Amino acid sequence: MDMLNKKIEVSIKNRSYPILIGFGILTEVGNLSKELGDSCFLISQKKIFSLYGNMCRKAFEAAGISVKPSVFSDGESAKSFETYKALLEDIIQFDEPAKKRIFIANLGGGVVGDVGGFVAATYRRGIDYIQIPTTLLANVDSAVGGKCAINLCGIKNIVGSFYQPRLVVADLSLLKTLPSKELIDSMAEVVKYGVIADYHFFCFVEDNLESILSLKPSVIEHVVERCYEIKAEIVSEDELDKKGIRAILNFGHTIGHAIEGAEGFSIRHGEAVAIGMAAESSLAVYLGLLKEEERDRIKELLRRVGLPIKTEGADPKRIMDTLIHDKKFLGRVKFVLPKRIGEVELVEDIDEGLIRRVIEEMVYGR
Ligand SMILES: NC(=O)c1ccc[n+]([C@@H]2O[C@H](COP(=O)([O-])OP(=O)(O)OC[C@H]3O[C@@H](n4cnc5c(N)ncnc54)[C@H](O)[C@@H]3O)[C@@H](O)[C@H]2O)c1
Repeated sequence: MDMLNKKIEVSIKNRSYPILIGFGILTEVGNLSKELGDSCFLISQKKIFSLYGNMCRKAFEAAGISVKPSVFSDGESAKSFETYKALLEDIIQFDEPAKKRIFIANLGGGVVGDVGGFVAATYRRGIDYIQIPTTLLANVDSAVGGKCAINLCGIKNIVGSFYQPRLVVADLSLLKTLPSKELIDSMAEVVKYGVIADYHFFCFVEDNLESILSLKPSVIEHVVERCYEIKAEIVSEDELDKKGIRAILNFGHTIGHAIEGAEGFSIRHGEAVAIGMAAESSLAVYLGLLKEEERDRIKELLRRVGLPIKTEGADPKRIMDTLIHDKKFLGRVKFVLPKRIGEVELVEDIDEGLIRRVIEEMVYGR
């Protein structure tokens, strides 16, 4: 199959799985997942299903796999208990254990992947599932690693699990219909991978930014491959986020989450993470960990991508309060701070005055 360009293995004890990356490989998804069962419960959201649902369905059916689509409404607000319950009720209708071997396929971005993964994790105490990511974010981040969750009581990802997929089919040709604001938003995570783990990749993103944003095939493929490689390596070492290794994926997210919380989730996630990365880089500079020029280079790349690095109009006190609330909730506030582009460290117990200074600069500063 020459459409299949790359294969990366996520190595987890007893449950390793491949990530297949290519262009046009959605048509092969049935053949690729045959061993998982003869019946596919295909979870998607309306818009994505209208674009790619039929293609996906036909690919399974051509391989002799029967398909039951279950499609829920668009948007993050659908990452809810109501959607989760409706999907479970639907899969119960479809399932006939005596006759069928059922598995789940999640066709969509992070929302579909997270809800569908949680259905797979909990239905019959866990059944097999595959991820078919359709956004850049899902293609560099959420489809790999097994974190799955729903939102409840206004709290993001508060109910969930770690449950790894059996296969990830990343057909990058699906990205061509992705709105550019989604693409730009996802780029925050791409920049993050460079800062946390790979200086050369950071330079590659700097040098090829226009080709990435225009989805030049060879370039976007390299980006997805490298991000997945980095994430796969981190997840393989710390699947359950217990050793402080997986935590490095949270660069930009401590302040980013506080901004999201303070803004009532009205800001886009990638934008909040971009502002968070800029602010946390400043924190690293003030702590003497990172050179000012490197902080400025990170900010400049984010700016060129089209992401914000300040949050004008926000209330610094509310952001600080949210952070302190998170601290109560999580035990202590930990920051993942860059020592240089390509290497980060986990830092705890940072002086609150310094954090406040960075947050105020983020709202009012240069
Ligand atoms: N599990 C994890 O490790 C992890 C990591 C990061 C983020 N997340 C979660 O991911 C979610 C965000 O995911 P996202 O950024 O992929 O957003 P999303 O799933 O909401 O998709 C964004 C938008 O793009 C549309 N869309 C998706 N694919 C498309 C395509 N190919 N063509 C045209 N339109 C398309 C969708 O309909 C939606 O409107 C959040 O809920 C976040 O919590 C999870």
